[in-house]
Amino acid sequence: MGGEKERLLAEVSSARERFEREAGSVSLVAEIDALRIRYLGRKGLIADFFSRLAQLPPQDRPVVGKAINDLRAYVSAEIDRLRATAASQARAEVVFDPTLPGTRWERGRFHPLLQVLDEIVDIFTSMGFSVETGPEIETDYYNFEALNIPPNHPSRDLQDTFYLEGPHLLRTHTSPVQIRSMEKQRPPVRMIAPGRCFRKDTPDATHSPMFHQVEGLWVDKGVTFAHLKGVILAFAQKLFGKDVRIRFRPSFFPFTEPSAEYDFSCIMCKGAGCRICKNTGWLEISGAGMVDPAVFGFVDYDPEEYTGYAFGMGVERIAMLKYQIGDIRLFYDNDLRFLSQF
Ligand code: DAH
Repeated sequence: MGGEKERLLAEVSSARERFEREAGSVSLVAEIDALRIRYLGRKGLIADFFSRLAQLPPQDRPVVGKAINDLRAYVSAEIDRLRATAASQARAEVVFDPTLPGTRWERGRFHPLLQVLDEIVDIFTSMGFSVETGPEIETDYYNFEALNIPPNHPSRDLQDTFYLEGPHLLRTHTSPVQIRSMEKQRPPVRMIAPGRCFRKDTPDATHSPMFHQVEGLWVDKGVTFAHLKGVILAFAQKLFGKDVRIRFRPSFFPFTEPSAEYDFSCIMCKGAGCRICKNTGWLEISGAGMVDPAVFGFVDYDPEEYTGYAFGMGVERIAMLKYQIGDIRLFYDNDLRFLSQF
């Protein structure tokens, strides 16, 4: 007749076998939890074994205690393993659950400035202009000297230009690309140069120390101011619609003679006068003119043989007009609430 010690040892070992069977048939987290509570819980099987262990005579306790401890270690390791498996399966199920809302991927888009820049480039390339680029770090020669800008010209002032070491500076306009393009080839030259420019301006609603321009240049035999007007009109109408009119006002730039500033009729009020055009009916765009013969001298073009026109424009200004944006700084804040509107 076996004593309590043997009975307890037998129960411990059959509990282990039962646990093995039961563990083999659970998979849900809730089932695993129920199993854990039944074996390891405060009122569970193993707790019961321990309280019966306390009733045994002291000399029997080490052997039985070890058997119960082994059972407990085994059960809790198994429970941990089952839980880990269940958790990774649950994750896998979530990934493939077609009823869940799914991760939303925002669709990217081009920055509004780049969109406008692309549009400008498309219009000019469709009219036969090539696209040239030049360095943003320029030399005094290309940014000023070869453009016939004299040493005492205000745009050379320290207050306007970011000077770097030696002859280097951050280009203040895209006009130096004219010079670089003419140096590289003989006429005909028909190019635009989009790019970034820098000036020491304090940022406000219409100024930014970094901004974008597109430069244009056409040099060939017999190029006249009439060609310039034709191209600017075609550009204005492709960009803002057939109703747009243009006008040229006399102006001065060291690298063109004669020089002009050109305006578009206001795209908001169609010229009637509104807040955007300050009641003038016209929007100032930028400068243009016939390439000064002195500039041809720097690139070794014969001004008796060739003439050319040049023009510039500010990309931010055009984008602000096109999208009715009141503050240039919005372009550079990278606030998605702003950017996602375009
Ligand atoms: N470079 C001038 C500026 O930044 C713009 C400009 C005026 C460009 C007249 C031209 C031009 O090509 O002919 O203000």
